This record gives sequence, C-alpha cells and structure tokens, in this order.
Amino acid sequence: MSVNTEIRRITTNTVQEMKLNGEKISMLTAYDFSTAVILDSAGIDVILVGDSASNVMAGHETTLPITLDQMIYHASSVVRGTKRALIVVDLPFGSYQGNSKEALASAIRIMKESGAHAVKLEGGIEIKESIERIISAGIPVMGHLGLTPQSIYKFGTYTVRAKEEAEANKLLSDIQILEHAGCFGVVLEKIPAKLAKEATALVKIPTIGIGAGPEVDGQVLVVNDMLGITKGFKPRFLRQYLNLFDEIGGAVKRYIADVKSQDFPNKKEQY
Ligand code: KIV
Repeated sequence: MSVNTEIRRITTNTVQEMKLNGEKISMLTAYDFSTAVILDSAGIDVILVGDSASNVMAGHETTLPITLDQMIYHASSVVRGTKRALIVVDLPFGSYQGNSKEALASAIRIMKESGAHAVKLEGGIEIKESIERIISAGIPVMGHLGLTPQSIYKFGTYTVRAKEEAEANKLLSDIQILEHAGCFGVVLEKIPAKLAKEATALVKIPTIGIGAGPEVDGQVLVVNDMLGITKGFKPRFLRQYLNLFDEIGGAVKRYIADVKSQDFPNKKEQY
C-alpha cells in the first residue's frame, strides 16, 4: 500500500469551510521566497503578499508607491516558496480604483505572472463594479474594510476607524455588498472589536481581523512586525513573538568582531 504524502493546498473553499466549522484562520504577510518557505512549513493557512511590502520591504512611508510589477515580483517569489498555503495578493494603489476594466487587467496580470490564488482590494461600494468584474473572470477576491491604508491621505491618520455610527453603519452595509458581489473573505483592519463581531455575524464569508478583536474568523499580522524586525512599531493590537531586530543586530555585531579579530574564518571554515 502506498502512502499519499501529497500536501493539499488550502483553497478559498477551505477557508469558508473553516468559518462554518468554527476553526480560526491564521494569516500572515510574506514578500519573499525564504520567509514563505518558513511560514508554509510551519503550517500557516493563508499568506498575504500585502502592499505593506511598500513599507517593510522598500522603506516607503505609505503603501501608495508600490507598483503592480513590484507586487508581481514579491508574489511570484512567495508562490515558489509554498506548497500548502493559500496565496492572496494585494492589488496596489492605482491599479483598480475607478476603472473596472483596468482592475480586471491588473488582477489577470497578478494571477498569470505570479501564480497566486486570489487578489485583495480595499474598499466597499465604491469598488463593487471592479470586484464583480474580477470575480466574473474566475479570480477569487478578498475584500478589505475599516482602516484601508491606500486611502491614508483621505483619512489623515492611522487611528481606529468606524468608531462613529455613520462609518460603522457604512462598514456593515459594505461587508454585505462584498459578500453579495462574491468575495470569499474580508479583512477588517483596526475597528472596534464590537463592530467586528457584528460584521462577522452578518455574513457567511470569513472575516480576518487585524486590530479588530477576537470575534472574527481569523487573524492577520504583518510578519516583520510580529517577528520584531520592524523597529519601534508597537500598536496595541500587535503581539510581537520575537525581537529579531536585536537578535539579528547581535549576530551581525559578533560577525563584525570575528572578522576584525581574524577569528573568522578559522581552519575548519576554509578549503
Ligand atoms: O498590506 C498588508 O499587509 C495588509 C494587512 C495589514 C492586512 O493589507
């Protein structure tokens, strides 16, 4: 008898079933091959190739400057490093807003050139037409409501969204619009936990929170933040599992000292 050791890929259906079964969905960002291999081997369910690459990979202040070509480069590196995780890729700012034809063209480029499995778009009713057009081409779409960093210059700050009734009501209406448009899931970023709970109960599709409290269907963090690579970024919602900034810095200091003292390379470290 042969044992089937094939690893089964998580799909958009799997995450929807996880919501039905009450199993929480784990999601982290990744932007490169090596990190993707680690996350996938550890058993992460979903990897988001986030446009936060603009901040943590490229050092920009906002997510706005990253281009479609750059997102495809990051996404294809991540795809090559995974066997199991569902790979979702952010459509970058300027590649979908206000033009559903362009939105579809951008989504098709991501799917064709990176091999990823789904795209994510920020916004509600304003981008309904784009979402429907992309889904009608067979491309799964994840929504993103609450704090939507591509609109940072409209908001003016990165503080908690939808604290006021009007914005909370819009979010509750938007999440239903996204569900009816065919989104397979929605990220809820930086909103009151009570509102996230209400939004999650309102729809059958899974909600993935970041700064949205515990009563959502899954959680997402930026991998550089949770590993403590990012220096000095400590919002309340962030749980930091390592302090890699200091760990890596310490290793680099020891390496420098070893080179300067000629301790490295030693006899065993040469040919
Ligand atoms: O780009 C990103 O990393 C994201 C997460 C914060 C959800 O959109």
